[in-house]
Amino acid sequence: MPVVKLEEGKNYSYCTCGNSENKPFCDGAHKAKGGGTPLRFKGETSGDVALCGCGKSQNKPYCDGSHNG
Ligand code: FES
Repeated sequence: MPVVKLEEGKNYSYCTCGNSENKPFCDGAHKAKGGGTPLRFKGETSGDVALCGCGKSQNKPYCDGSHNG
């Protein structure tokens, strides 16, 4: 559940392949290592937002609390 600062209206790429050195964001590593493509999303609000770090969220890129159970 990494908490990151997002800006409303700004575009982000969330790593879905697990190879990024800049998780939870994509750093382009999927191109060389494979395993997926980034999930593109736009910041809905400015401020701290919890993104999924465990891969279980049903609402990626956002944390939905699934890591708890
Ligand atoms: S580095 Fe993981 S999706 Fe791009």
